[in-house]
Amino acid sequence: MSNSMWGGRFSEGPAAIMEEINASIGFDQKLYRQDIAGSKAHAAMLARQGIIAADDAEKIAAGLDAILREIEAGEFKFSRALEDIHLNIESRLKELIGDAAGRLHTARSRNDQVATDFKLWVRDTIDAVDSALRNLQSALADKAFEHAGQVMPGFTHLQSAQPVTFGHHMLAYVEMIGRDRGRFQDARKRLNENPLGAAALAGTSFPIDRFQTSAALGFDRPTANSLDSVSDRDFVIEALAAASLCAIHLSRFAEEIVIWSSAQFRFIKLSDKFTTGSSIMPQKRNPDAAELVRAKTGRIIGAQTALQIVMKGLPLAYQKDMQEDKEQAFDAFESLELAIAATTGMVLDMQPEAVTLKKAAGSGFATATDLADWLVRELNMPFRDAHHVTGRIVAIASERNVDLTKVTLDEMQAVHPAITDAVYSVLSVDKSVRSRTSYGGTSPKNVRSQAKRWQRALAREAAKA
Ligand code: ARG
Repeated sequence: MSNSMWGGRFSEGPAAIMEEINASIGFDQKLYRQDIAGSKAHAAMLARQGIIAADDAEKIAAGLDAILREIEAGEFKFSRALEDIHLNIESRLKELIGDAAGRLHTARSRNDQVATDFKLWVRDTIDAVDSALRNLQSALADKAFEHAGQVMPGFTHLQSAQPVTFGHHMLAYVEMIGRDRGRFQDARKRLNENPLGAAALAGTSFPIDRFQTSAALGFDRPTANSLDSVSDRDFVIEALAAASLCAIHLSRFAEEIVIWSSAQFRFIKLSDKFTTGSSIMPQKRNPDAAELVRAKTGRIIGAQTALQIVMKGLPLAYQKDMQEDKEQAFDAFESLELAIAATTGMVLDMQPEAVTLKKAAGSGFATATDLADWLVRELNMPFRDAHHVTGRIVAIASERNVDLTKVTLDEMQAVHPAITDAVYSVLSVDKSVRSRTSYGGTSPKNVRSQAKRWQRALAREAAKA
């Protein structure tokens, strides 16, 4: 009977609690494809090495194929009593092919098996994330090209700083996502060593060939230390670290979308596809998708932190604690993939509001730096003095509550007599952005060529994929 003090929900007593805390089949069934691929590679290698008979290996392979079909058809019965995906599959294999099934587990353990399965899963996931990120970059680069000349305010401290272009802003995220992809690729490279054959922790006395299974599973090489092979979870933590940073980037963009789509800014329009109405306030159009992209970041960073804490005090080699790696990673990557898809959707959907953006670009004396630069260039003034002179002109504009173009030449000359009316040529926002031609600067010409460069590179990649 269950313990009356603490066993309320466990009608079958302590053993039921053991099964509940111990079993991972509720979540690790997600690894079925990787588990079957790993087992097929292992069985084929065992046969080639003369460790098991060729006809046993054939039966095993056929049985595993049948199991794959059962699982994909939703006909497989997962059992919690059988703990995890590895034992569930092996037990079904025994039902299907009889005693030959028992030979599959020669020269391996669930410890190297789970490390292999999970590495394969993380690798597949990195590949899926990478191609989703490539699509997001394409959407951003296209938007950038289309709006390369659209001026908007550039901010520092969320205060109007200098005019930039909408395209330039989009390309900033293309760069960030580019680094994210680089981090995922880097993690993938380090991950791609095969733990299979490390067995429980010490290797095996059977004459296995780990290079064969490595090749069959697309690994670059076998791992070189059996203890490390079964106790390494760096690969998932590193992938989660890349995911966290990527999520942070998506979250920053999401925050901008929230700000931009507000009634106070109206920088962009999002369609009903990515907004919802309020049940009580009819005027509202809430940017829920962006808000949720912003929020998913918490789960993703949380998963990374959780797993780091799980790992931090573990002695070598495998400890059951490591079973906790999977749910965190599954959830984090599911969240990331959803966030990437939603962000891509919003980029395709968003329409910059040209008139509002241009008006806002000129507010807050955004071309003050252009004025100071003009004083430096035309009057050969040291920049610090030019900054001071400009400050006094800005004060006049501010006092009269007009923008810089409306300060009269007389007023300017009262601050500095050498100023001529040529100065007005640099005070418009369009002129301002056009003048920012330094490499990486916001001039529409630069933006167009950077956007083109990305479009070409991404198209080349997409064609190869
Ligand atoms: N379900 C386990 C995990 O995810 C598989 C490895 C179990 N190994 C063991 N020796 N009990 O970590």
